[in-house]
Amino acid sequence: MAFAKDFLWGAASASAQVEGGWNEGGRTPSIWDALIDGHIKYNDTPAVACDTYHHAKDDAALMGEIGLRSYRFSISWSRVIPAEGKVNPTGIAYYSNLVDELLKNGVTPMITLYHWDLPMWVYRKGGWLSEEISDLFADYAKTVAEALGDRVGYWLTFNEPQVFVGAGYNRGTHAPFLQVGKVGIETVTRNILLAHGKAAAAIRQYAAKTPKVGFAPSARCYTPTEDTPDAIAEAKRLTFEGSITHTGNIWWESPIVRGEALDEQKHFLSEDDLKVIHQPLDFFGVNVYQSRNYLAKGEDTAQRRAKWGQPRTQMGWAITPEVLYWLPKFYYERYGLQILITENGLANCDVISLDGAVHDPQRIDFMTRYLAHLKMAVDEGVPVIGYQYWSLMDNFEWDKGYAMRFGMIYTDYANGCRRVPKDSARFYSEIIRTNGENLPTLPLNW
Ligand code: GAL
Repeated sequence: MAFAKDFLWGAASASAQVEGGWNEGGRTPSIWDALIDGHIKYNDTPAVACDTYHHAKDDAALMGEIGLRSYRFSISWSRVIPAEGKVNPTGIAYYSNLVDELLKNGVTPMITLYHWDLPMWVYRKGGWLSEEISDLFADYAKTVAEALGDRVGYWLTFNEPQVFVGAGYNRGTHAPFLQVGKVGIETVTRNILLAHGKAAAAIRQYAAKTPKVGFAPSARCYTPTEDTPDAIAEAKRLTFEGSITHTGNIWWESPIVRGEALDEQKHFLSEDDLKVIHQPLDFFGVNVYQSRNYLAKGEDTAQRRAKWGQPRTQMGWAITPEVLYWLPKFYYERYGLQILITENGLANCDVISLDGAVHDPQRIDFMTRYLAHLKMAVDEGVPVIGYQYWSLMDNFEWDKGYAMRFGMIYTDYANGCRRVPKDSARFYSEIIRTNGENLPTLPLNW
């Protein structure tokens, strides 16, 4: 088996990380505009970011030139609904135009409704701690589905609940920088799960074109340490281990995908809640960067390996291409849903060289290894429908500001956010053109 002919080779981004135009066209601030003072490296802010707010046409054309078949982007809730009960036509027009430009260039749009930029007006009502939020989110989903659902076929409700809850509500390192404790985490969890269910239903009800609906969890995966059935079984067990914390996969997946509450969720999720939360999904989205075996800190397990000189990206994340083989297999076996890789990529110390180009052999090497492993899973018959490289262009990396460059396009912030496609963008074009057929056959990395 090879990659399907219509495999969705693409790239991803998120509104707060790329858009800028934070107070333009009727948009009101999000928690990533209003609450970040003193929390971001070098005091960076997302006020301008990559200025995609003013570059929709050129960016879509560039994606067309690279040959991308899909682009996963998120909607800024406060651009569309800047205040309670108010829809902003200028905000809708911005996204509608972006969708048209993408389609004109042969790029399939994929929309994420929530990639962390909670409107301040919702936050002031209590944000994810408020019981009202799931209905507000469903209204927002309806508005977007009505406006764009005639042309957009792929929808993701949430990006990485694990991360925005873990970092934003437990550790306090991401906006809104809270530490709400166990009961608070349970409240936030229930509200997010209900919001997911209500939004998924609203998308199906109001999108004119039959939608494909999923979400994009930060999909953890342990990988086997040796080629034995026991090691493989152990990696799978750890991958789906139950956990009373929000970081466990199944904390979110059991209610969303299976309609089941974990034992430790039963006191705050009712059967009626589960009916709302458990909506049919068309695919299982996964954001994945590394095997969990190599976490620098945190869970200590027999699977964990400390390797001298383990190659890591600038984020400190272990380069473990085998995760793109095991993860789709494990998740497909468990949930029986087609897999969409919604994020994967690396941050690298990229510079514009004296010749004016951005040479990033590390990224090309990373893509080659990871995609070669993904191909092994596809060759074995695992139904993977697409791969969205993170990210289309260098952008605002949350608490790390602009210090991390993940893009296949270099963003020259000092010069009007000029876009400079890196060598890896040309490399990716070739992968897309040949539909991954020229990827090398590598031995499975253990
Ligand atoms: C993900 C997140 C993205 C991006 C990426 C790289 O967790 O969804 O927004 O920041 O990591 O760190």
